Amino acid sequence: PIYEKTATSPVNIAVIKYWGKRDSVLILPTNSSLSVTLSQENLQSKTTIRASPDFKKDRLWLNGVEEADVTKNKRLQNCLRETRRLRKEYEKKLCEEVGAENTIPLSEYNVHICSENNFPTAAGLASSASGFACLVYTLAQLYELPVSDTELSKIARQGSGSACRSLFGGFVAWEMGSQDDGSDSQAIQVAPKDHWPELEALICVVSDAKKGTSSTEGMQNTVATSPLIQHRIKHVVPERMKSMTEAILKRDFRKFAEITMRDSNQFHAVCLDTFPPIFYLNDVSRAIIRVITEYNSSNESGELKAAYTFDAGPNAVIYAPRENIPEIINIIAKYFPGDIDNGNEYFTDPYHLFS
Ligand code: DP6
Repeated sequence: PIYEKTATSPVNIAVIKYWGKRDSVLILPTNSSLSVTLSQENLQSKTTIRASPDFKKDRLWLNGVEEADVTKNKRLQNCLRETRRLRKEYEKKLCEEVGAENTIPLSEYNVHICSENNFPTAAGLASSASGFACLVYTLAQLYELPVSDTELSKIARQGSGSACRSLFGGFVAWEMGSQDDGSDSQAIQVAPKDHWPELEALICVVSDAKKGTSSTEGMQNTVATSPLIQHRIKHVVPERMKSMTEAILKRDFRKFAEITMRDSNQFHAVCLDTFPPIFYLNDVSRAIIRVITEYNSSNESGELKAAYTFDAGPNAVIYAPRENIPEIINIIAKYFPGDIDNGNEYFTDPYHLFS
């Protein structure tokens, strides 16, 4: 027999950035973070997992290509081990309730995992976040685990930190926690997606090339060498988490936008403060920052109209109320009339995302 489940998971884009680990095995962060989950169908991971007593070993295909030796993939192993442990516990309970003959020992079967993204991987577009969230969610479905999404977030976190936030829609906080075993480092939903339906995200793919420095390696070097990150961890993020949560609950775009842009700026400042420095933004990214700044200051009422944010790559994500999106697309198209397919980096054709 073969048991099979398929699921999809969305991408999330942080407005308060996770950057730095206090434990790199359990993936425990040095600060809390907060993100918006994007609900575009063009931007998600899809995973099918099969389990069978006939499978000789665990196998993994990523976008159609099989990984040579999954036992070397520590992060995958963490997620498999933890979900199998929960399945084992559940099987014990099932055995008592319905008898061993009616309990399928799925925890003992090897699995075949097939995972696909429909967007560029490793271009700073959070592919590891949706990928690991999807892996853990699909395993939980296959194993019929009787646990909450917050419980699952602690497992997804051990695949990739930002993945813990992709188990929820809407506005999601990853609480850093203080325990050494990671038992309180988990994601919670701050507000569901329909709490703020006017808010939209626009993705400007500046480059879909694989990024230079991976997040994992980059943040390790930052924690090891940057004095500025210590200031960020102690004196900036805790306050920002509170103000951002408030801004979201009140749907205060002015406050939301200001904190989002300031936090992106500070994240790239700590990258520059890393020694040797890490550069994720390029000339196009910086031009987008100038254009959005100009667009905001041209508004007579003083209200902010858009907010930019950049992860570990040059691509921009712009958050704005829906009514401003056509104008923003026009402005971006005017300043950056290129196309990635022509091999130049000046591009528009933004993905249109409803968050
Ligand atoms: C800049 O979650 O990719 O996107 O935990 O090492 O897998 P690992 O790192 P990852 O880092 C994401 C960093 C970021 C900010 C964020 O998403 O909060």
